Amino acid sequence: VSDDDAKRAVGRRAAEMVRDGMRVGLGTGSTVTHTITALGERARDLTCVATSIQTETAARRVGLSLVSPDEVDALDIAIDGADEVDPELNLTKGGGGALVREKIVAAMAERFVVVVDESKLVGMLGPFGTPIEVLAFAPQTVGRAVAALGATRVTIRAERSDNGNVLLDAAFGSIANPTELAARLDAIPGLVDHGIFLGSMVDTVLIDGPSGPQVRGSG
Ligand code: 5RP
Repeated sequence: VSDDDAKRAVGRRAAEMVRDGMRVGLGTGSTVTHTITALGERARDLTCVATSIQTETAARRVGLSLVSPDEVDALDIAIDGADEVDPELNLTKGGGGALVREKIVAAMAERFVVVVDESKLVGMLGPFGTPIEVLAFAPQTVGRAVAALGATRVTIRAERSDNGNVLLDAAFGSIANPTELAARLDAIPGLVDHGIFLGSMVDTVLIDGPSGPQVRGSG
């Protein structure tokens, strides 16, 4: 099973959790693209919120109807990929630069479902790097505050986020306490949000890969 096959299998499996009439948060990335395709094939009676322009375009193309977050009170389910998943279901997200909208949408959902191929499973978050979105007003200053928390390297991406902000990637090595690091990052002025999604917001992780389909959290 290649990573691509696994992404397709798990992305399509998540679409089976969506029932007609649901309000659905659509994540960003190559895995959730398979979910979007599957939803477009069968269930058209859905109200969807997209987490990026890329997802908006993909969802429109398959005929899904989209609204903004403020047009719905809450979401029944949100489905998204991740860059890393640890044993407590803490996530690293934001490889695709959509972390701010992704976190808003995940927090709006009664059930947050994460879809990953097996290569995303890690013992501790960190090797991927931690994506961070900051205001364009002072990216170097905010980056220095991030480095002061223990990042050995903070790089600035060439592309801005869909929100027009600057994206950083911070190398913290292995993150022993994601809850503490998340709180410290949250406290930096000018830091819009970061890609650590704590396991407390994750309901279900669907995994596929060489070991076959797996489910973590509530099935
Ligand atoms: C985007 C994300 C994606 O969910 C993450 O990068 C996983 O992407 P893919 O499914 O393509 O591996 O967080 O901001």
